[in-house]
Amino acid sequence: MSFTVTNRRNQSAFTANPGETILDAALRDKRVFPYGCRNGACGACKSTLASGKVDYGEYEEFALSAGEIAQGKVLLCQAVPLEDVVIDAEEIMAGADIRIRMLPCRVLRMEKAAKDVMRVFLMPPKSQEFNFVPGQYIDIIMKDGQRRSFSAANLPERAREEGLELHIRHVPGGRFTPRVFAAMRERDLLRFEGPFGTYFLREDGARPVIMVAGGTGFAPVKALIEQALAADPARRIHFFWGARDEQDVYMHALAEEWARARENFLYTPVLSEPDADGAWRGARGWVHESVLAAYDDFAEFDVYASGPPVMVDAVRDGLGAKGMRAERFFFDSFTYAPREP
Ligand code: FES
Repeated sequence: MSFTVTNRRNQSAFTANPGETILDAALRDKRVFPYGCRNGACGACKSTLASGKVDYGEYEEFALSAGEIAQGKVLLCQAVPLEDVVIDAEEIMAGADIRIRMLPCRVLRMEKAAKDVMRVFLMPPKSQEFNFVPGQYIDIIMKDGQRRSFSAANLPERAREEGLELHIRHVPGGRFTPRVFAAMRERDLLRFEGPFGTYFLREDGARPVIMVAGGTGFAPVKALIEQALAADPARRIHFFWGARDEQDVYMHALAEEWARARENFLYTPVLSEPDADGAWRGARGWVHESVLAAYDDFAEFDVYASGPPVMVDAVRDGLGAKGMRAERFFFDSFTYAPREP
């Protein structure tokens, strides 16, 4: 039986089919609520259930605690209505006209950016329209149907020319990424579905921006920075890139170039284990500590963070305690299944 989902925030309503999650029903109806992993692991889709019963689905305690359920919270990517429900959720306009599609694609180019990071450029058939908002991700579908998610690292107009750019880190023992390094070749055929996610640049104003990336969390941040610079070259941006060693900041030269070319662009790479030769002159330690130390108050900033959940949480908690507004914090948190960073 179908049920009606009403969003009391804007008094809109849509229908959820039997067994369909609220998020899937919303996307089918071209409505976009904030979301990330789609598997109950990141918490990005957490919203308020104002009335009605749902099956809460499967999720990590970290993403939705028992206390939060008691307070009326729900994960839209997991919750399946059991009757008509009313939710209270922010609706995002960007991305509403983006069609989620399953498409074949060819590996156009592969470029090793570091010993364990591959830049892979994928080209869907020219006859098939594929569009996305910078910061979104796609799912690569493996032969057995399993999925691995990777963020787009370039802008849609560039992707149409040079292929959709992904940054794939080799995860030892992973099911997909070792194959990318050992067996994948240019011209190979793959299948993907997407785009997904709402890690978009919010352009409602010209607030200064802090971007924080951990490792290959740089991929969506690269797209967001390129978009922000194209829209307003004078916008104040401070980009922090946390990594283990010099190899891990695998597009350091590009970030330095952004900083060299623009007065309002600051770049702070932060290494937790720089090479022992003592040549590293930059910041050391954990990236969130460098972000915290850089400003006394974060109230004026929009903050974007992408990388491992522990890094995203440290940024959220640390900056939140120093004035960052919760509604101006946007994140893309890697979860290890099905996301293989
Ligand atoms: S928990 Fe719902 S999108 Fe991640």
